[in-house]
Amino acid sequence: MKKVIVIFFLFVSAIALKAQTYIITSPRSIVKAEFSLKRGHPEYQVYFKDKAVIKSSSMGFELKESPSLKDLPPMKDNFLLSSVDSSLVNETWQPVWGEVKIIRNNYRQYIFHLIEKDDQQTKLDIVFRVFDDGVGFRYEFPAQKNLTVFVISDELTQFHVTGNHKAFWIPGDYDSNEFQPVTSSLSEVDAASGKDVNEIAFKTPINANTVQTPLMMKTTDGLYLNIHEAALVDYPAMNLSINKSNYVLSSTLVPDALGSKAYLIAPAKTPWRTIIVSDKATDILASKMILNLNEPSKIKNTSWIKPMKFVGVWWEMHVGKSTWDYAGTQDGSNAKDLKPSGRHGATTKNVKRYIDFAAKNKIDGVLVEGWNTGWEDWFGKWKENVFDFVTPYPDFDVKEIQRYAASKNVKMIMHNETSGAVTSYERQMDTAYRFMKKFGYPAVKTGYVGRIIPRGEHHDGQWMVNHYIRVAEKTASYNIMVDMHEPVRPTGLQRTYPNWLACEAARGNEFNAWSKGNNPDHETILPFTRLMGGPMDYTPGIFQIKLDVYDPKKTEQVHTTLAKQLALYITMYSPLQMAADLPENYEAHMDAFQFIKDVAVDWDDTKIIEAEPGDYITIARKAKGKSDWFVGSITDENKREANINLNFLDKGKKYMATIYADGKDADWKNNPMVYLITRQTVDSKSALSVNLAPGGGCAISLIQIK
Ligand code: NOJ
Ligand code: CA
Repeated sequence: MKKVIVIFFLFVSAIALKAQTYIITSPRSIVKAEFSLKRGHPEYQVYFKDKAVIKSSSMGFELKESPSLKDLPPMKDNFLLSSVDSSLVNETWQPVWGEVKIIRNNYRQYIFHLIEKDDQQTKLDIVFRVFDDGVGFRYEFPAQKNLTVFVISDELTQFHVTGNHKAFWIPGDYDSNEFQPVTSSLSEVDAASGKDVNEIAFKTPINANTVQTPLMMKTTDGLYLNIHEAALVDYPAMNLSINKSNYVLSSTLVPDALGSKAYLIAPAKTPWRTIIVSDKATDILASKMILNLNEPSKIKNTSWIKPMKFVGVWWEMHVGKSTWDYAGTQDGSNAKDLKPSGRHGATTKNVKRYIDFAAKNKIDGVLVEGWNTGWEDWFGKWKENVFDFVTPYPDFDVKEIQRYAASKNVKMIMHNETSGAVTSYERQMDTAYRFMKKFGYPAVKTGYVGRIIPRGEHHDGQWMVNHYIRVAEKTASYNIMVDMHEPVRPTGLQRTYPNWLACEAARGNEFNAWSKGNNPDHETILPFTRLMGGPMDYTPGIFQIKLDVYDPKKTEQVHTTLAKQLALYITMYSPLQMAADLPENYEAHMDAFQFIKDVAVDWDDTKIIEAEPGDYITIARKAKGKSDWFVGSITDENKREANINLNFLDKGKKYMATIYADGKDADWKNNPMVYLITRQTVDSKSALSVNLAPGGGCAISLIQIK
């Protein structure tokens, strides 16, 4: 790894710097941040190619008085600048898994050391890192005499954007991010109109003008702008409140049970606030800034961490073919007294069917949900000890399943649904993970459906943010990989905890099974929003798109064509990819399933070929340690022609291209399951043009001919 760090120290007297403004330029001068202290008040601005993207915006905090902390000065408008440090960093590092093999981390850093003017004691540092694709800044509270344990009642950070930009947003919320993104101008945001209240049992909306991050915008002058955060540790998540008269977006932190925002002990630091900007949408998807702002892996030996594909006893419950619980009653009765309904999904026999399918088709793992007692009484009760994570239903033979899976070289994936009773889970984590080690489970999917216990805490508050990290650390101590459903949205912590392979933390494919579903543009927005922070367990790969086959009364359908489901393995990045449909639905289309068999889950290289948020995305990725490439291209509700220049292929080599395209007259609503598979020899001089149906897509494998 090459590393060049140049450090300059700039010690200046507080008085001399009173009204000074600092301009911090990115390594190639593309992005600039300006920091100034105006009458003691810290402010910043951001420019892209000398065009303002963030106008003069406030920084600082309100602190909360408490019996032990009186007379604290607010940390916002009475500062002096005592000194400034700056440095230039240019290094590369290798992720344990990822979209590319090597990541460059190149930025200029300035640290502004502020001190309170009147007490000459209270200290606050503001750190800026300016990259060629954006700006990260964070606050640091150095160790100091009169600020030890303290409570933040508000973070005052603002992002003053330059106009009424087009925004891709979901409503601000303390507990859920499983919303359909809306595309509108900032002035038209109506976060109270996300009327899918009944679909998410545990949401806590904020108000009509507040949205979540990552917030993706296309500016009125055609730039692409993304606001989020990096390294969310020991701090609540940030929502953004929009002032519709001046387009100032203000940080709105998720409160705790007492209405405070964060309890900190100096020395302490906030997450990075991130502003990614470019004149090309493809650059937003290629940005590694959020990962670069996170700490390197805390796990020394990572050889046990392995990206994987899996199938699962899962979609069959979501479409109502079988049930999570043993008796199919969900009436709160005790499982031991219940009779099997004959519709339980997690039976030894059914699990073996999935293991057989996985073994036959190069799928690494099998997830099983509904294997442990408690499912008859789990939903919406807000009570403790629903699940114990170690007691199987009588028809799930954990030992026999371990033996059978091992004999077929298939890995089992554990499921721990907490139903939001996190206190119960914390008490039982060691027991649960010891059980996994004993029965050969290298990975666990966790879930947080329901209101959080400790009561009053929120999914996205400081207490839960720390819980998710405790789970990542504890699973790592058992060499277990983890996939979290319903956590706070990711902020690049997968760099620090590479066993934390994926999260759901957004509206997954599951909504297509039992609600009004996801709009056909959903998957063209998620990579620009939710996935900016990290991989998503979206659960692609649904082949049986019309759901009336399970029940003639089921009018729901997946809002996609079959070919688009294949493309999602490329456009929706994750080192953990589910083939979410039932074995029998794959067996009916083994020619199309071939793509899922072949596609990699870990990559040496990624090219974002074309992209426009809300409209289309085409991405090519090179399989880790191989010469093969895979391409995915998706569109929204409009048909389009994807033009894919193959100039990324090795020069002078021939490749067999297998193109999995939408069939003639395909359409997500009326004709979603027709597809056409064609083959042709290509090289780096070739270009492919493929028709994508309304709501459609295409997937291409490019296998080097040896
Ligand atoms: C919601 C999760 O997203 C889903 O994958 C899971 O099946 C259910 N909760 C039950 O835990
Ligand atoms: Ca979910």
